[in-house]
Amino acid sequence: ALQTTGESNNHSLKNGEMYADGINWDDLGFGLIPIDYMYTMKCSDGENFSQGHLSPFGKIELCPSAGILNYGQGLFEGLKATRTEDGRIMLFRPQENALRMKMGAERMCMPSPSVEQFVDAVKQTVFANKRWVPPPGKGSLYIRPLLVGSGSNLGLGPGLEYTFLIFASPVGNYHKGRAALNLYVEHKIHRATPGGTGGVKSVTNYSPVYQTQQQARAKGFSDVLFLDSATGKNIEEIVAANIFILKGNVISTPTLKHGTILPGVTRKSIIDIALDFGYQVEERVIPVEDLLAADEAFCTGTAVVVNPIGAVTYQDKRVEYKTGGALCQKLYETLTGIQTGRLEDKKGWTL
Ligand code: COI
Repeated sequence: ALQTTGESNNHSLKNGEMYADGINWDDLGFGLIPIDYMYTMKCSDGENFSQGHLSPFGKIELCPSAGILNYGQGLFEGLKATRTEDGRIMLFRPQENALRMKMGAERMCMPSPSVEQFVDAVKQTVFANKRWVPPPGKGSLYIRPLLVGSGSNLGLGPGLEYTFLIFASPVGNYHKGRAALNLYVEHKIHRATPGGTGGVKSVTNYSPVYQTQQQARAKGFSDVLFLDSATGKNIEEIVAANIFILKGNVISTPTLKHGTILPGVTRKSIIDIALDFGYQVEERVIPVEDLLAADEAFCTGTAVVVNPIGAVTYQDKRVEYKTGGALCQKLYETLTGIQTGRLEDKKGWTL
């Protein structure tokens, strides 16, 4: 758990001020609630990030010719801090996010903070904003690290100046009540392509799905499941979440090997937990027919955690799944048990 004393304690709280005022902790959704501090660290030589600092949460200034604004040179991350029953604050696998950002930064020709710099920055941000970490069982503090090209470069190509920034917000469930999703399987528009950036958390992977999402929502669906662009026959992901299916004792999730699936930290953790429970886990190409024939389906992500899928519609075929699905619930309880200190963290995942 994070230390509540020590050198980062230069933004200490008023005595007794455990939680921020004026927040209905019982009704957190997934939207921004501005917190006290954000963290910024800059690179000005295209290589190294210098000492970062906390500052009051607020607007940032960018040159209109910044790489992020013009050419989408940017990545984001998502991770959570949760409060245990006895009031400690825990982080879940922040090193994994640091490594994923590093991998993405290479793809986007950006320098990245070291794992140590990243994790230290996350700790400082959480510590400075600890009154915004919800009470146990009410939600978590969602931490959003950004890495963006902030220098001026009009010609196409990487610049020298980059900004690493972390903000955060208390959040509840991504899907209200963790309700089972009613997914539309999109077969014409694709999220990612082999050789593209689907396998990294580039900002450019996200808003291109809005149109498809809006059209599906207008028809009463809760979200969209995308198919691979090479054949249009295999399931890939839901953009804010990875997908898993169960058939018998076998759990399957789309393979990362074509670079079109975001390598989720929750995805990776759920694979480990499922193996421990004795399931066979396959990372493979999954034809949409396997989804339609599955016993259960669910999705994973930092924001969605582990969320049941209630139904999918592919062209004119709709399939409903058993929900309250034994597997989905068991995996959810185990993962959140570790994240909140209710279950022993035998894997050393929490900090
Ligand atoms: C996360 O789960 O952290 C994500 O990045 C999903 C986000 C698009 C809401």
